[in-house]
Amino acid sequence: MEEIKALEKILVKDLVKIYLERRALARYSTQCRQGEECLVLDRVTFSVKPRDFTCIVGPSGCGKSTMLRILAGFEEPTAGQVRIDGKEVTGPSNRHIFVFQEDGLFPWMTARENIALGIMNHGLKGHERDEKVQEYLEMVGLADFGDHYPHQLSGGMRRRAEVARALIGEPDILFMDEPFGALDFVTRLQMREEMLNVHAMFDTTIFFITHDIDEALQLGDKVIVLGDRPSRVKADIDLQFPHPRDLSAGELKDIRKGIYFLLGLHSSL
Ligand SMILES: Nc1ncnc2c1ncn2[C@@H]1O[C@H](COP(=O)(O)OP(=O)(O)O)[C@@H](O)[C@H]1O
Ligand SMILES: [Mg+2]
Repeated sequence: MEEIKALEKILVKDLVKIYLERRALARYSTQCRQGEECLVLDRVTFSVKPRDFTCIVGPSGCGKSTMLRILAGFEEPTAGQVRIDGKEVTGPSNRHIFVFQEDGLFPWMTARENIALGIMNHGLKGHERDEKVQEYLEMVGLADFGDHYPHQLSGGMRRRAEVARALIGEPDILFMDEPFGALDFVTRLQMREEMLNVHAMFDTTIFFITHDIDEALQLGDKVIVLGDRPSRVKADIDLQFPHPRDLSAGELKDIRKGIYFLLGLHSSL
């Protein structure tokens, strides 16, 4: 039993989150009324192995971002346990890096300066730091764009710079909240490929939130499906398939169909 515990990187057990609804006007009929206690996460339970690429999928508003904020230590759970490396999460850690959906680069800094922020407190000397930043610029295909400001980069390039900034500090866990949601289709596919390369190169545990079922199936070593609020784990599926993956054939096709079904969707429209 002890051995099994030691193999877990992240353990989430009976996680509950209740918010007090502050909004007076409900936008949807399913929304909680003002002053009401709104159950968002309802005893969510799962575990993640070290170095796994875990994808969480679920409908909009089901509590994915809420869960990520709790795991990253930014928010407290109402009840339940979150353990990382066997220790209860009590606050943010500089070994756990977050990449959000929105643009997170500082617009007044170049790509190079933005990426250098990721190793600001690492005590590297000037030239050591510059070399390392250049290495990461190259790794994400931005070798010639280090001196560009964010507004001079495309959406995909800005995301790459953010991924580089997150990775350069050699994080233990990378938390990503729908990081490619705002990109166009082709760029999103390119970024997926980039993430797989990154995951193959580093020892980082990646915890990746998406509302895109195909994205989860293409990237994940494991996919966890959450249902509508109040969210529970509807499925927890191991995806030990090699890359690149063809979602339109074999077992993956059936898994895909199953997830669509769980979310009340049709897999072909
Ligand atoms: N700080 C907050 N206060 C009150 N309600 C919140 C807060 N944050 C999120 N919620 C509510 O919790 C639910 C889940 O939100 P969120 O985690 O952002 O969902 P998702 O990321 O899956 O789209 C939503 O109904 C949202 O309105
Ligand atoms: Mg969200």
